[in-house]
Amino acid sequence: MLPSILNNLTLPIISSPLFAISYPELVVAQCKAGIVGSFPALNAREPDTLEDWIDRINTQLAVLRKETPHAIVGPYAVNQIIHASNTRAERDIRTCIDLQVPILITSLRPPERALIDAVHEYGGLVLHDVINLRHAKKAIDAGVDGLILVAAGAGGHAGTLSPFAFVAEVRKIFDGIVVLGGAIATGESIFAARALGADLAYVGTRFIASREANAKDAYKSALVEAQAGDIIYTDAFTGVHGNYVRQSILAAGLDPDALPESAGAKIDFSATEGMQIKAWRDIWGAGQGVGSVDDVDSVSEIVARLCTEYRGARERMLG
Ligand SMILES: Cc1cc2nc3c(=O)[nH]c(=O)nc-3n(C[C@H](O)[C@H](O)[C@H](O)COP(=O)(O)O)c2cc1C
Repeated sequence: MLPSILNNLTLPIISSPLFAISYPELVVAQCKAGIVGSFPALNAREPDTLEDWIDRINTQLAVLRKETPHAIVGPYAVNQIIHASNTRAERDIRTCIDLQVPILITSLRPPERALIDAVHEYGGLVLHDVINLRHAKKAIDAGVDGLILVAAGAGGHAGTLSPFAFVAEVRKIFDGIVVLGGAIATGESIFAARALGADLAYVGTRFIASREANAKDAYKSALVEAQAGDIIYTDAFTGVHGNYVRQSILAAGLDPDALPESAGAKIDFSATEGMQIKAWRDIWGAGQGVGSVDDVDSVSEIVARLCTEYRGARERMLG
């Protein structure tokens, strides 16, 4: 049984945190559409800005819930990258706990028990994202409420495991919340994620091509144009393997078929104007679900379409 904040959604989706793209406007639109919105804490360029963003989201969602008491308004999540180079992590986590952010999504290192206990104290949840079983086991041992399985084909720093293999292996050892991500961009895929044993789908790329996303028009149009075969998996840009749109690599004057190896470059979340930002600004991250992105729509239109597709899939399967 899912905790109540994840049980009462328009569709079982967490829209994934997107570096440099998910800002409060996108998050509030996602929650308003009845799904879980999210953003990475590092998108707020200063720790004080993070506090302002969370305050703003809390206020806007409270107003929505008051004005439309019968509408489904989803909760939101803040993503924390727990890595030695993210020197803000401790302060950002404290801000999230003080302001009672409903869901924390942790990445890279599993969260400490004290963090999980502090979030549980106000009724929040901690989900941790992983790309393999070894990391999943570490997060389970740490006591997280849920695992986000980032499978092959996902946008950003994707894994390489088939979702079929990954969900089955995790479900053998974990009966908590399982969220599946990677190239999920249609209602049929969301239904399939549930059929595999996941509780919710993690959807990123589909929302980059939304009107509310903080991405250039050219980026959004490139997603509409691209197919799965245009997604290049490389560690050349950040030192960690990720999926990027071929057209943006070409536009940067590089040959997508002859990219240099990362040469041991280390991922770094401290630099505000360094490789990280540049990689995500000029070289566009996206998952293999791009072939199902045919338009740039508003979040509410996207969610309405996903709902129709999801219901259609369910009817076909269950009659
Ligand atoms: C442009 C871009 C930026 C991303 N930034 C983050 C991030 O800051 N933190 C994070 O945990 N995941 C990040 N991700 C990964 C997503 O959270 C998620 O795993 C992925 O979008 C799911 O696959 P999909 O894009 O195929 O739907 C990013 C993905 C993309 C495409």
